[in-house]
Amino acid sequence: MTPAMRRASIRTRLLVALLAVALIGAVGLSAYFLHELESFALRKLEERLHTQATITAALVSETLAADDARLGANDAAALQRALSRAAPYAASRMRVLDARGVVLADSGGTPGASYASRAEIRDALDGGYGAATRMTERGRVALYVAVPITVGDEVVGVSYASSTTFSIMSLLSDYRLRLAAVVLAFVAATFGLAELLARWLSRPLTELAGAASRFAGGDHAARAAPRGSVETQALAEAFNAMADEVERAIAELREEERRKSRFVSDVSHELRTPLTAIRGAAETLLDGDVSEEDQRQFLASIVREADRLTRLANDLLTLQRIEGATGELPLGRVDLRSVAQRAIEALQPLWETRGVSVVLTGSSPVVLGDADRLQQVVANLLDNATRVTPEGGSVEIRISEGPEAVTLEVLDEGPGIPPDALPHIFERFFRAQVSRDRSTGGAGLGLAIVAAIVRAHAGTVEAVNRPEGGSVFVVRLPALKREAARA
Ligand SMILES: Nc1ncnc2c1ncn2[C@@H]1O[C@H](COP(=O)(O)OP(=O)(O)O)[C@@H](O)[C@H]1O
Ligand SMILES: [Mg+2]
Repeated sequence: MTPAMRRASIRTRLLVALLAVALIGAVGLSAYFLHELESFALRKLEERLHTQATITAALVSETLAADDARLGANDAAALQRALSRAAPYAASRMRVLDARGVVLADSGGTPGASYASRAEIRDALDGGYGAATRMTERGRVALYVAVPITVGDEVVGVSYASSTTFSIMSLLSDYRLRLAAVVLAFVAATFGLAELLARWLSRPLTELAGAASRFAGGDHAARAAPRGSVETQALAEAFNAMADEVERAIAELREEERRKSRFVSDVSHELRTPLTAIRGAAETLLDGDVSEEDQRQFLASIVREADRLTRLANDLLTLQRIEGATGELPLGRVDLRSVAQRAIEALQPLWETRGVSVVLTGSSPVVLGDADRLQQVVANLLDNATRVTPEGGSVEIRISEGPEAVTLEVLDEGPGIPPDALPHIFERFFRAQVSRDRSTGGAGLGLAIVAAIVRAHAGTVEAVNRPEGGSVFVVRLPALKREAARA
């Protein structure tokens, strides 16, 4: 294939292929037909010459038998008269030759010539059938048939018939012209057919190419209609499936991008508040002229805000570690009750300051988990619960176990969670009551950390408002029995 052919359109390829088939078919068929026709006509001509020669030979033979059984000069005149009379009506030339091969009578000329040297004449003189094709003196192709004239067993002469093949040749050239016209018509029809076929075959592909370039140009809703042959339909469907996948991946990337940039702006926002407070306090202290009492207050505020920044950094780091971890948590057998107990003890100064009591109830199931992380879950939930519960109130941590899951609930006596905040409460940086919580510390990462740790333990966590007031955070972890049985 030439380079031009390799880039050729379906139309060109089809045209070339169909033209080749049409030409080979038409020319081949024509040649075969003409050849058959020619040999048929020549066979017929030879048959006719044979018949004429045989009849003539038989007639001459009968006449001689009644006479002296010799073909002599006295017979020649009568034969010449007979042949001359038939000549205007005969399509062929008839001659009668004597036993030496000399012409006694000729329907198309004068007698006297000797044809003894011709092969067909010698065949006939030997008692057989002779036939030959050769050029006439006038340059035409002629067919010659010679049969013996016999009396008894003796060959006494030859009946010689001949005819030019001119009528056959002119018939063939006539057919050749007509066939050429047919071949031309074939070629013209092929052009039309190639055009139609090409349109029919290429339209679905052109449409598909259009959809693909629209997609590449940014129109991610572009899809191809499955049309045409089974193959082009399959191609369109495959393209559509690919486009769906790419569109989904792009949407995901964009969402990820949005999340990242929101995260960065959230973090910056969280950093700004404590930094502004620290800067303000430091500036005031620099000015001098501050009472000892105020100095202590400003320094305490600087320490508090620095603590807040440290907490923020720690929380971000924790989240990043849990969510960015590629491997699984180092899981071990953990007694959930003692984990809760340790969290309560660690936070004791905090909830005591808040004037809230904490009770731990229920069973002490063993789960598969990371004890430190699980303690952080309890601590974060306990921190929130004791913060929202009014002074003198109490917070309960309740542990229970079922066949499938172990449940840890943290129940408080706070105001509950606003219904519109419920779906977002586990999101990063989410704070339901901004004004109040700013003063009490958290950046809204506590519950996000809880959710991330629980997810890493293949568990679930949800927040529910209790009908009797307050809210409950329910953590469910897979029961160890099932996990152990599987392992
Ligand atoms: N027990 C609760 N009762 C009512 N609201 C709560 C409770 N726990 C958390 N919230 C709300 O959810 C928000 C997010 O909590 P959290 O992720 O722990 O953030 P923070 O770091 O501020 O503690 C809090 O600001 C608070 O408004
Ligand atoms: Mg919190």
